[in-house]
Amino acid sequence: MKELYILEDKYMTDFSKIDEYNKDFHDNFPDWKPFVTKENFENFLKEVEEKKQGIGNDGVKEIFYWFMEGDKIIGAGGIRLNPEVDERTKIYCGHIFYQIVPSKRKQGYGTILCHLLLKKMQELGFKEAIITCFDTNKGSIKIIEQNSGEFIEKIYDIEEKNERFKITRRYKVNIEKSLKNFKSKRR
Ligand SMILES: CC(C)(COP(=O)(O)OP(=O)(O)OC[C@H]1O[C@@H](n2cnc3c(N)ncnc32)[C@H](O)[C@@H]1OP(=O)(O)O)[C@@H](O)C(=O)NCCC(=O)NCCS
Repeated sequence: MKELYILEDKYMTDFSKIDEYNKDFHDNFPDWKPFVTKENFENFLKEVEEKKQGIGNDGVKEIFYWFMEGDKIIGAGGIRLNPEVDERTKIYCGHIFYQIVPSKRKQGYGTILCHLLLKKMQELGFKEAIITCFDTNKGSIKIIEQNSGEFIEKIYDIEEKNERFKITRRYKVNIEKSLKNFKSKRR
């Protein structure tokens, strides 16, 4: 099995790997719009560096990571260091976000990515994480629960127009307990 790890944005300098990542989404979802392209790559790197300082992100400091399997990007995620500085981020977004390329979904990778982000949070000094997901996101609910997420509440978003995204579930994770109890189901 190839090594699975997270890589901070600035260490991914080979755009051909990001191109493959975009292609995986595009092959599965033709209307998908990439958030990083060859044209905006430099700007993307500048923006993610700025986000680490909370610049241009409502003051929320955020670290972006690529999720790697060997030398291939199979997902992306991030850690928000201070979601509490922005009311909507605090309530609806929490500390962690993640996504897996479509071709690798339902194989246990999302659960591992969440685990690796929690591990990183512990290295950064956090003891607890808040993770949220939409009530309709069956995969994400399982990911959080498989990382020992304890359900807090469901929140109804009156500002959200799309029915699928109206209800957010909020969970808290005791990071030490989560890391200790984690079992990967990856086949
Ligand atoms: C949500 C997402 C990260 C799941 O990634 P993944 O690699 O498929 O996750 P896993 O394989 O670890 O799935 C965990 C469990 O959920 C199940 N699952 C995953 N997607 C599912 C879906 N769409 N419907 C039902 N079950 C699903 C898996 O089969 C697995 O079940 P098991 O543990 O009983 O075998 C992925 O679909 C994605 O990137 N979605 C878009 C971004 C997103 O929604 N991010 C989460 C909010 S931050």
